[in-house]
Amino acid sequence: MTSASAPGKIILFGEHAVVYGRPALAVPVTQVHADVEVLDSSKNGIWINAPDVGLHAELKSLPSDHPLAAVINNFLFAFGVAPFPVLDIEISSTIPVASGLGSGAAVSVALIRALSSHLDYLMTNEQVNALAYEIEKIHHGTPSGIDNTVITYAKPVFFVKGQPIETFRVGKPFTIVIGNTGISAPTKEAVGDVHALWEADKARWEKVFDKIGEIAEKAKERIGNGEWELIGDLMIQNHALLQEMTVSSPELDRLVSAALKAGALGAKMSGGGRGGNMIALVRPETAEAVSRLLKEASAKNTIITSIHP
Ligand code: PMV
Repeated sequence: MTSASAPGKIILFGEHAVVYGRPALAVPVTQVHADVEVLDSSKNGIWINAPDVGLHAELKSLPSDHPLAAVINNFLFAFGVAPFPVLDIEISSTIPVASGLGSGAAVSVALIRALSSHLDYLMTNEQVNALAYEIEKIHHGTPSGIDNTVITYAKPVFFVKGQPIETFRVGKPFTIVIGNTGISAPTKEAVGDVHALWEADKARWEKVFDKIGEIAEKAKERIGNGEWELIGDLMIQNHALLQEMTVSSPELDRLVSAALKAGALGAKMSGGGRGGNMIALVRPETAEAVSRLLKEASAKNTIITSIHP
């Protein structure tokens, strides 16, 4: 038996604008993870068991654009694996689905790594990332590639679409509370709606994307200098621009306001939006209180995570 695990992720700054070439900052969240076990099987075929999503099926019975089938088929094709191995694959995940924490990319990365070590086809991070990116296209349509990148490398990433991976320096650790609205919202739709806005008035939205890119650049510098208290205002500015882009929601706005009222230094939605998660920057000693107040403001659950050098 071989197992592999991959973390969740949050986007600190720059979602949506990243699709249009602006930089974004993302970090792994190890409190949640996708886990995959691959075992040699006594049955014929490749059996996939993912009880969290009610899936128990043989590979060939799944449509070719099913993300799990696509991971396995692309892997077998890339390495010319023949004859087809006989396998049982167990998939589980504690990452909430469609909520901006990278659940799809984490399952892909864990599955690729478990297959590669079980079948003895060693892969570089670059290869894992490239394969996971292909699957993100099924999940998201036109993904920037930020999710698969931060999850593959499991490090803070300063991401610019199409450019080589760049990690960023964390001068001093800082604490983030993640609040889940409990509303699952497909990223594809929010990305499509932003695209329609952009098509209708490119000059206006390019300016908005520029502002977000500048915020991400400033945040990278401040985090690198250990001036993490100073990124709170940048989060508030980034959230306002995401609201303008129509990708926030009343529930996300309510949690952002609740976090600020509870003493967070900054807060914003994170990821595709319309539901999913928001993040709040807190002093470590106030993390529990902010988390409690988020739940009182109807967060379904919260995660306290710290970002380390
Ligand atoms: O997977 P999510 O919901 O965290 O969204 C990814 C971030 C977007 O910028 C909205 C889309 C993308 O592909 O970068």
